[in-house]
This record gives sequence, structure tokens and C-alpha cells, in this order.
Amino acid sequence: MNWRLKAAIQNAIALLPGPLSQRVYYAMQRRFGGLRSPAVEDKLRQGVEVAERVEANGATVVGARVLEVGTGRRLGLPLALWLQGAERVTTVDLNPYLRAELVHEDLLQMRDQRARVESLLGRRLVPGRLDALLALADGFSLERLCGTCAIDYRSPADAAALDLADGAIDLHVSYEVMEHIPGPVLEAILGEAARLLRPGGLAVHCIDLTDHFSHSDPGIGPLNFLRFGERGFRLLAGNGFMYMNRLQVDDYDAIWARTGLVVRERLAEPDPNVAAALAAGAIPLAPRFAGKPPGVLAVLRAWYVGAAGGDRR
Ligand SMILES: C[S@@+](CC[C@H](N)C(=O)[O-])C[C@H]1O[C@@H](n2cnc3c(N)ncnc32)[C@H](O)[C@@H]1O
Repeated sequence: MNWRLKAAIQNAIALLPGPLSQRVYYAMQRRFGGLRSPAVEDKLRQGVEVAERVEANGATVVGARVLEVGTGRRLGLPLALWLQGAERVTTVDLNPYLRAELVHEDLLQMRDQRARVESLLGRRLVPGRLDALLALADGFSLERLCGTCAIDYRSPADAAALDLADGAIDLHVSYEVMEHIPGPVLEAILGEAARLLRPGGLAVHCIDLTDHFSHSDPGIGPLNFLRFGERGFRLLAGNGFMYMNRLQVDDYDAIWARTGLVVRERLAEPDPNVAAALAAGAIPLAPRFAGKPPGVLAVLRAWYVGAAGGDRR
């Protein structure tokens, strides 16, 4: 869909009163958007990628007390982490977007594609947990699922200020969430992570730095949104449904450096084609971005793994 049309529709729906606007937007996503037939496999793969990053940094998901920032509408990441051995996953969202019907549909998909789920999770799948999960598909209840899978869903809850004790978690994770949060709030969330993580615990975050409108409009490139100034972009797409902070990887580096977490791993390879197009001046850039090197702007995806230090016991 043409991104300007999509943005205009989102802006119009955002003008409706709060709960109605949420209901209408959800109905639109279900009928025409990304929630028509969402694949559970994508969410499970995210959980595998998180487990891989955890292991690459000398830790494990097995037995971990996890905090997920930004639950969204489904429970894919918490379920994937539980299936791989997490002890419990607390998942928090500022907005109560979670939908039981979507979680149920994910479960039915997993039951239909059981062999695929098993091969995706591979050696990390904890024996018995998939059976326990799939047994919940008939007579589904979200409460029962959360009880069985040790998922503590909290919403509305701000990840920048949580009612959890110092050192209460081993892993602090999010997947394609940070790009939707304003920089100062992000900094507060990572500061809170430094408080919540036990010493040596890890913060593992995957960020999608592309213009998300380009995911559904083949007519624009991944950096299309960088051509607009602040005001112009806010007018075009400043609604809460598709908020994108447009922070670049050097901005994230600066934020992480101020949080009290030590960055252990940073995966942020520039896309060579995008870097070449930038170097050739083929991608228009607003002043906020024009001074940044192509090697920074061409990073389309980044992983950060930060470790909590300190001598808290
Ligand atoms: C793009 S959604 C991602 C949802 C989910 N992780 C997924 O992949 O489907 C980002 C989520 O972050 C939540 N969020 C934004 N700011 C937050 C905050 N300060 N604390 C907790 N959640 C927040 C939003 O409400 C939204 O549900």
C-alpha cells in the first residue's frame, strides 16, 4: 500500500476517541494489514535469535528470569523463551494491546505445524514444554496459558519504572521495539534495566532501523523517512500507531553509553547497496541526517547486548 495513504488513514483513525480509535485500528489491521494471517514462525524465530545472542555472550536462557519490553498484541517472544527453558518471563507494555484471540491462533498454528516448530527450536526445545503448551489450544484461556508458561503480563506498565526489585531479572529483552520509543524514554528504560538486572545479567535488544512504511510499500526505500524534517514527518506520520524515533546507530551508541550497562556485543553492519546509494547522493536527507556518514545511516538492523555490572548481591 502507498505509504502516504497508509499514514493518512492512520492519522484519521488516531483522531477518534482513545478506545474507539484502538478498536478501529485493530479491525483494520485484522482485515487489511499485518494481522490478517500473522505467522507464528516469525515470532518463534525471534526467540531463537535472542537465545543465540544470549549464548554468544556466555549466558543461557535456561532457568532465566526474563523481562520483555513491549509485548504488543501477541506472546510469541515470551512463549519462544519459555519453550527454550526460561524460568519465567515478565512482559510489559505501556498499552494493553494483547489480544487473546491472536495468541490462540498462534497456538493453533503451532499445533498444525508442530514438526516445523520443533525443527525451528531444535536442541533448545525443553522436552515436555511444547506438549504442555499445545494442550492449552482447546478450551483456550489466556490466564491458563500465562499460568502454565510462567508468563507475567503487565499492562499498562512503563518499562522505565517497574515495580520489580533490584537484581530481580537475568535477561532484559526486546525485539523491534526500541525504534518505536523516544530517545529519552529509551534511555530511562535502559537505566531501569541496569537496576533490574542481577550483576552479569544481560540486556539483549534487536532494533529495526528501517522506515517501517517501506515494509508494505515497495515504491519506497528503507531510508525514505530520513528525507523529512521533524515537523514534516510529524505531520505526515506522527500518530501513535506508527511512531518511529528515526534514531540512527550512532544515536543508540550514545544512549547505551549513558545507561550504566556495558555493551558486550554490537552487531550493526551497514547494508552495502544502501551505503553506495548514500555515497552517490541518491538518497535525499533532511539536515538532521545529512551530516552522518553513509556507514552509519546504512545500518538497517542492529543488535546490542549489554551487561549489568556493579557489586549488587
Ligand atoms: C512495535 S510494538 C512491538 C510489539 C511486539 N514486540 C511485537 O513484535 O509484536 C512496540 C510496543 O512497545 C510498547 N511500548 C512503547 N513504549 C513503552 C514503554 N515505555 N514501556 C513498555 N512498553 C512500551 C508499545 O505500546 C508497543 O506495544
